[in-house]
Amino acid sequence: MPRIGIIVGSIASGSINRVVANALPALATDPDAQFEIIEIKDLPLYNYELDASYPESAVELKNAIESVDGVIIVTPEYSRSIPGVLKNALDWSSRPWGQNSFNGKPVAIMGASIGTTGTAAAQQHLRAILGHFNAATLGQPETFFHFRPEAFAADGSVQDETSQAILANFVNATVDHVKRHALVNA
Ligand SMILES: Cc1cc2nc3c(=O)[nH]c(=O)nc-3n(C[C@H](O)[C@H](O)[C@H](O)COP(=O)(O)O)c2cc1C
Repeated sequence: MPRIGIIVGSIASGSINRVVANALPALATDPDAQFEIIEIKDLPLYNYELDASYPESAVELKNAIESVDGVIIVTPEYSRSIPGVLKNALDWSSRPWGQNSFNGKPVAIMGASIGTTGTAAAQQHLRAILGHFNAATLGQPETFFHFRPEAFAADGSVQDETSQAILANFVNATVDHVKRHALVNA
């Protein structure tokens, strides 16, 4: 405890947000914290006509979200919002009606971009969606991560002190948030 799922809002094989997501677990100071990536790349496009017979990949997504103690979403910003692939995954996770997998779930969000100001708009949209889902979204630290390739070593670890501090602050605040939430609900 805690087990934390990580959803990456990009399905590009060279996704910088996936690089960041992969680096987070090693920066957690709690030795009991466990992390696993929850994949969204095999989901079909959401269609409510499939609510009665959810596709296997969507059932797997819902089970994965429901089985972890908390969720981290690491997302890029596309066109000043969240990518369509992430919105699609969120739609699948929120249905069928009355079976929203994010209900009451502790969540933390962050995003990486190649610019210095990226993902703030996307994260605001994401917060609104998660509010509607009744997820318990961590307010701080807001993490708009400026991705610089040289900050990461060939093995994916963070080799730049500033980046390390920002990401460690985020992941450790998330672990605390998830643990606090579990205590309150124990
Ligand atoms: C369709 C598209 C729209 C984008 N729109 C934005 C944007 O609104 N704001 C931003 O900061 N970056 C934007 N970018 C640049 C992304 O930050 C950059 O491509 C980043 O690598 C995407 O993250 P990923 O590699 O994890 O997919 C956009 C990229 C694409 C492909």
